Amino acid sequence: MSNSQSFSNAANRQNKTVLITGASSGIGLEVAKIFRASGWNVVATMRNPENCELAQDEKILCLPLDVTRHETIENTIETAIARFGSIDALINNAGYALVGAFEACSQVEIERQFATNVFGLMAVTRAILPHFRDRRQGIIVNVASIGGKLTFPLYSPYHATKWAVEGFSESLQYELKPLNIKVKIIEPGPIKTDFYTRSMSVAQKPGLTDYDHYVARTLPQMQKPSMASPPEVTAKVVYRAVTDGSWKLRYPAGGGAGIFMALRKLLPDALFQAIIKAGIER
Ligand SMILES: NC(=O)c1ccc[n+]([C@@H]2O[C@H](COP(=O)([O-])OP(=O)(O)OC[C@H]3O[C@@H](n4cnc5c(N)ncnc54)[C@H](OP(=O)(O)O)[C@@H]3O)[C@@H](O)[C@H]2O)c1
Repeated sequence: MSNSQSFSNAANRQNKTVLITGASSGIGLEVAKIFRASGWNVVATMRNPENCELAQDEKILCLPLDVTRHETIENTIETAIARFGSIDALINNAGYALVGAFEACSQVEIERQFATNVFGLMAVTRAILPHFRDRRQGIIVNVASIGGKLTFPLYSPYHATKWAVEGFSESLQYELKPLNIKVKIIEPGPIKTDFYTRSMSVAQKPGLTDYDHYVARTLPQMQKPSMASPPEVTAKVVYRAVTDGSWKLRYPAGGGAGIFMALRKLLPDALFQAIIKAGIER
């Protein structure tokens, strides 16, 4: 049986609802497609729903949501509940990377990075918790990264956000377990999406040239990762995290994530860093 057949068959047996942030492209878009193919109601939220690429039907609701605009989040959740009756799973997927030499990043750029990847994710989580508590059920899936457990050069603000998501999620699961609310962390490795192109913000500071040589020989390797997987791989892991019935917390999800994480765990710092340098600094 093909994957899409097995997703479809599972589908017709239930009528659940998932709400996804950042569903306009990449991983979020593929997550929306997999849940829809499995019979779920899908609330695909995005900054510009007029660009929604999902085939519209009665089980798809595209809604506007910029996770940095906290005042709009509750409205979006209420609209989704009014349409489908309840929400069973939240996928906190919206995010992007601010890259470059740290010194070249402005305070505004760094705060925007945290506003999206951390405070936005927290705000959506806080907004959905009353609904999950009322129902004594719900699943929160936070899309972190292998970059929440290890680091690469020139991604320091991004790593800081993803390490924050890891710590936030791991601590949160303790208090939510007695309420039957699950927290899951998805840890993708490199995935072929707009993450490395349209979505990426490259910091530059006029007159700051001391990093130019390092950035020029390093950043291109980071923007074309050799082990990148298609986003469907990660989307399938998200689907599994929501539907496997377990309390498992972490899910490596494509792009060699399992290998990266195993090496990080097993190797001493100096050896791991030497491998990263050999692979990325040219
Ligand atoms: N690709 C990778 O290698 C990789 C690896 C590890 C983790 N991740 C994580 O996976 C998640 C999805 O990224 P992706 O790879 O699928 O990249 P992507 O194709 O660029 O998708 C990013 C999504 O986030 C949305 N977004 C950005 N800022 C937002 C905001 N303020 N409010 C709402 N939505 C916002 C984008 O919306 P617009 O269309 O409006 O810009 C887009 O839908 C991110 O959290 C990323 O950190 C990616």
